[in-house]
Amino acid sequence: MEKTLREIIDYAVWAPSGDNSQPWFFKIKGETIELYIDPDKDNPILNFKLSGTYISAGAVLGTIKIAATHYGLEAEFRLFPNPQDKTFIASINFVKSSAQEDELFRFIKERCTNRKPYKNVSLSSEQKRKLFDSATNISEARLVIVDEAQKVKSIAKACSTTEKIALETPALHRLFFKNLVWSREEEQKKGIGLYIVTLELPPPIRLLFKVLKHWSVAKLLNKIGFSKIAAKGNARTYAKSAALCAIVIKNHTPQEFINAGRLTQRVWLTATALGLSVQPVTGIFFFITRWKKGDVSDFLPKHLPEIQKAYEIVYPAFGLENETIAMHLRLGMTNKPTARSLRVEPKIVV
Ligand SMILES: Cc1cc2nc3c(=O)[nH]c(=O)nc-3n(C[C@H](O)[C@H](O)[C@H](O)COP(=O)(O)O)c2cc1C
Repeated sequence: MEKTLREIIDYAVWAPSGDNSQPWFFKIKGETIELYIDPDKDNPILNFKLSGTYISAGAVLGTIKIAATHYGLEAEFRLFPNPQDKTFIASINFVKSSAQEDELFRFIKERCTNRKPYKNVSLSSEQKRKLFDSATNISEARLVIVDEAQKVKSIAKACSTTEKIALETPALHRLFFKNLVWSREEEQKKGIGLYIVTLELPPPIRLLFKVLKHWSVAKLLNKIGFSKIAAKGNARTYAKSAALCAIVIKNHTPQEFINAGRLTQRVWLTATALGLSVQPVTGIFFFITRWKKGDVSDFLPKHLPEIQKAYEIVYPAFGLENETIAMHLRLGMTNKPTARSLRVEPKIVV
């Protein structure tokens, strides 16, 4: 059984995580997998109250459930089995099952983030139906899809506020460049972080990034409008999406973020199965949540009205009032990504 559980974990770690931080580890106890998070791994500003880490843990949990079916097993889990230990996400037991292999299983390792511009092709009603169907069995989180061109354009523009704010805020600029990995060799050594080629930057911008990592250079370039130009470029890329998906929760609890992660993974795998590319575009949503909770000390005062403006655009565009957008994905058709992110060997304590 231990061999099977290790193989299931090998699949699970192909789940997505913010900046490819892989903020998880596992314990195998007899026939049970215990899933833990490492709260210090994810970006501390974007990862407000560990919401990003919980989403990643939820994606891992969802993947374990899918992978178990490949071994004729059903995974049953209990969230937060030890209420005293907030890093202990789930205890997962396995029972023999005659159910068929989940059709999403073969897409676990194929799923990836694709940051290329997408083609201007709309989703078919069949594709939309399949995406909604993939999101039906998970409580506490729901999927909202926007595919009306005008709304997509205005949400895309609001999302690009992230890049403007990140390039103008010393702490965010530092964190972004700290998580960038400049070569495959460095990625192989570190095992985590965002490999620069996966960002799909045009060659001149990739070169510029080498100097932009110095705050003094970013500050100087911003004086001649660089942060605004960068945001405009990203708004154009985001607007070229067949659809934007919000994964929505009600009460902002760790449990709900975990369920949002489970749902995200099912929607993402379904999109992969449909031949669609996916990129999470989340920064502004994490900023909005932080701003709504009044925790704004990491932002410059001049950015608060920009966050508020983005909130006033994106929430109504998704038809939302009192709920929280836990995760946000853009979807569309494009070529395969130029490069994929690697994974570290999973940390398993036996
Ligand atoms: C909570 C969360 C937030 C993310 N936010 C973004 C984002 O704003 N922009 C982006 O390009 N990728 C984002 N990602 C994608 C990760 O960077 C990506 O999953 C990770 O680098 C691993 O690569 P892979 O998805 O290709 O396996 C996010 C992923 C998660 C789980």
